Amino acid sequence: MPIQYSEELRLFRLATPNTAYFFHVNEGGFLVHDYYGKTLPICDLRYLSARAHKASFSPQSADLTTTPETAPVEYSCNGTGDYRISALQIREVRGNASTDIRYVSHKIYPGKPALKGQPATYGTEDETTTLEVLTRDDVTGAEVTLYYTVFEQYDAIARHATVTNTSDYEMNLERVYSLCCELPFGDWELCHLYGSWAKERQFERKELPHGITAVESKRGSSSHHHNPFAALVKKNTTEDAGDAYGFNLVYSGNFSIQVEQDYDGDLRLLMGINPTDFGWKLEPGESFETPEAVSVYSAEGLGGMSRTFHKLYRNNLCRGPWKNAKRPLLINNWEGTYFNFNEEKIYNIAKQAGELGVEMLVLDDGWFGARNHDKAGLGDWFVNEEKIKGGLPLLSQRIHDLGMKFGLWFEPEMINPDSDLYRAHPDWCLQVENRPLSIGRTQYVLDMSRKDVRDYLFDCMDKILKTTQIEYIKWDFNRNLTEVASFLLEPCRQKEIFHRYVLGLYELLDRLLTAYPDLLLEGCSGGGGRFDPAMLYYSPQIWTSDDTDAMERLTIQYGTSLCYPTSSISSHVSVCPNHQTKRTTPLKTRGDVALAGSFGYELDVTKMSDEEKEEVKGQIAEYHKYYELIHFGDLYRVIPPNESECAWVYVSEDKSEALLTFVCVRFRVQSRRAVCFRGLDPEKIYADEEGKVLPGSAWMNGGVNNVKSMQDGTSFKIHLTEVK
Ligand code: GLA
Repeated sequence: MPIQYSEELRLFRLATPNTAYFFHVNEGGFLVHDYYGKTLPICDLRYLSARAHKASFSPQSADLTTTPETAPVEYSCNGTGDYRISALQIREVRGNASTDIRYVSHKIYPGKPALKGQPATYGTEDETTTLEVLTRDDVTGAEVTLYYTVFEQYDAIARHATVTNTSDYEMNLERVYSLCCELPFGDWELCHLYGSWAKERQFERKELPHGITAVESKRGSSSHHHNPFAALVKKNTTEDAGDAYGFNLVYSGNFSIQVEQDYDGDLRLLMGINPTDFGWKLEPGESFETPEAVSVYSAEGLGGMSRTFHKLYRNNLCRGPWKNAKRPLLINNWEGTYFNFNEEKIYNIAKQAGELGVEMLVLDDGWFGARNHDKAGLGDWFVNEEKIKGGLPLLSQRIHDLGMKFGLWFEPEMINPDSDLYRAHPDWCLQVENRPLSIGRTQYVLDMSRKDVRDYLFDCMDKILKTTQIEYIKWDFNRNLTEVASFLLEPCRQKEIFHRYVLGLYELLDRLLTAYPDLLLEGCSGGGGRFDPAMLYYSPQIWTSDDTDAMERLTIQYGTSLCYPTSSISSHVSVCPNHQTKRTTPLKTRGDVALAGSFGYELDVTKMSDEEKEEVKGQIAEYHKYYELIHFGDLYRVIPPNESECAWVYVSEDKSEALLTFVCVRFRVQSRRAVCFRGLDPEKIYADEEGKVLPGSAWMNGGVNNVKSMQDGTSFKIHLTEVK
């Protein structure tokens, strides 16, 4: 029974294969949290929520059933005695913002309800069970429903909340988080992913101070700077062992993760839409639904947590025909040509790449409008026939005649002031009347909350997709939002625009995929500036970073792998000296690093030497050989990237095969050490390709002697197969 309710104890137990989550309804109707961790049978854990100490002057609820300041709760309220961070704040018509929600009823049923107009994980009635708990604040008339879905196969719980206004008056939501999670005192550390352009998702692990720690975005997208992911781990948690609680928000806009460690060391974590610059007016009878948040618990450290996220996202978040289909090996012309190309140049790149085994040509920025540089043309989604003579249908046809697929770049949400679209509809971009508009990469942001804007974008894309054979679209987004106001909304609803923007984006993506269900979308935002689970729902792969330097990619891909599967991490081999870092790295290493993702090339293949082309052929053969293992296998991060090295292992699900990749970042004469496999079956016998035969336990504990004399930036792989 994945979800149980004890009538006698008024206690819920949510169970996944290895974890359990307990809470109960106390005598006052408060939802009190008891436990989240390793699996336990249903039992009376209500005592765990009792906190012996009082903070100071701690008020009790009027019915004396709870001390809100110290009680661990399922969804924290505001203004009624709980002074810690609150998941819910509603300003009611009389102007005050106090809330106090109490249990009304609950439902348990097989399956998982979809969120309206928002991406979320999904599951059949065999795969998932859902608990819905209805609560109510009698004074405001707000009804809050908390949703919990457990997955039969994965140690994951998906959560979200809805708020319904059952009063006769309007109310304003000021904060409405998706998830509130309480954990008892311990040596807690926070892991999260920070970064910037060309330096996305850098892993950071820090001891938590008392007080509030926040990881947030208010840039209008999930952003390069922070990712809507956090993990709470114990001091002694490693990659392979110890408690790891991972949290990830399925949202592409402004998000907030707040963790409060109180005076006693107890933790509360909130995850949801960032309340800064957020507000939502609810008329009587209206509801608001939060985005979904996913939590994963693993007793097998950060590695175990990551592998659960990977499987859940591959199977129950990504959708459509491409979710588990073999992705086309692509070549993208961006770093090869930038804006300087014509149809012949593109055709020649496709032809020569096709001869090496590349399966798809992606035409990047510059094929439309007056887009000969990044200062004009965004919004004018009509082919530039001076550059692409004969138009897109002909170019696509010629590429298909080579036996290849054709992909195209769009940046639908943006507009250059120097564009026909802006000249015709200056009111279509986000702007504040009389305030000069900030500009980023010479572009403004379209108001995606407007239906007319979305209709225009859909029509433009539809016209192209109807007439040109296109299998793939790269969907880019190259600046953040400023002057966020819309001409169409009344002043009291302007705080809704950040969220309405995101809902508008989802609607357009959905409309496109409904009309063209076979399209493969690749997400992008100046590299990986919008790499989040919400985008993965639409685009099963995302361009990870504009930094294609293999050494830089080690830290970027490592951080990304904390919660996103390898199949989602687009990774390309580019030329050297690298365009971002000017560093030269052997082609072999560039290939080995790019193999740990959705593999491709991003260069002008016509400029490669014959020798390099032969090496590319070899890389493509390896891509096919290891595709299943890398895309569907379990990832073990053996040596997280450091100043001198990095190593990782993929193990097939049946443990019959494994691939270790080792990268020497900086060679040190005295740095010999064993590199150990992980995740093998200790009893099975495995052979490497040089004929060394050992039991799994030896490969994992003795490891591989890294005695090869390596140069800076070189790499090797070791492939093991089971000997029966
Ligand atoms: C962004 C993307 C790049 C490329 C350019 C085109 O920076 O991340 O891959 O598509 O835009 O302008």
